[in-house]
Amino acid sequence: MMARTLIAPSILAADFSKLGDEVEAVMAAGADWIHLDVMDGHFVPNITFGAPVIKALRPRTTATFDCHLMIEPVDPLLAAFADAGCDIITVHAEATKHLDRSLQAIRQLGKRAGVSLNPSTPESVIEYVLDRLDLVLLMSVNPGFGGQSFIASAVEKVRRVKALLGDREIPIEIDGGVTCETAPLVVAAGADVLVAGSAVFSGGGAKYAQNIAAIRTAADAARPA
Ligand code: DX5
Ligand code: ZN
Repeated sequence: MMARTLIAPSILAADFSKLGDEVEAVMAAGADWIHLDVMDGHFVPNITFGAPVIKALRPRTTATFDCHLMIEPVDPLLAAFADAGCDIITVHAEATKHLDRSLQAIRQLGKRAGVSLNPSTPESVIEYVLDRLDLVLLMSVNPGFGGQSFIASAVEKVRRVKALLGDREIPIEIDGGVTCETAPLVVAAGADVLVAGSAVFSGGGAKYAQNIAAIRTAADAARPA
């Protein structure tokens, strides 16, 4: 388990007209990582931004850039996201035919390799790639949009993935519908990193510190001893 629960605001919920300022604002407000949701309108029914936007944001913070690729095919674009300055590159197991190869490719680019699973995807798909993983990102909504409701089956999935990982130091990250109410459920089950879009960015810049602190307090209270 990581020393403390990390909070990774998803800039999908930020004001896109001033993304650089938004990244600086959430970091100043106490965020740990910046979560970057890349969508292609094909693997998921929405389009967001790509490597050039991430590259433009890179000089605005030294924080870990946690890049969640919801794109298919994904292998041909991995190098572009590595060059853009992503630190963690996460691919969906459902979006690559050869998960083992995609994960190796990310590490060969010098980046941390993550795998994401949709709510309906069984955790058994990662059983044979455990030693190629630096992060497991469990979706607690169907990917494509912010502001959706938390899917409760993710809590049991965290427990199962935790058991699968054994004593490996691989963080489990939860993405979708994270709030002060749902955060404690997944943290108690073993989640290490919480992605939060709406719950961080609601209310505008003056609220970011308060929003992040509220999630952190709820999460910390639920951490297993
Ligand atoms: C969904 C994205 C999430 C999303 C989270 O496809 O991967 O990161 O932005 O947004 P909230 O916290 O609003 O559910
Ligand atoms: Zn995401």
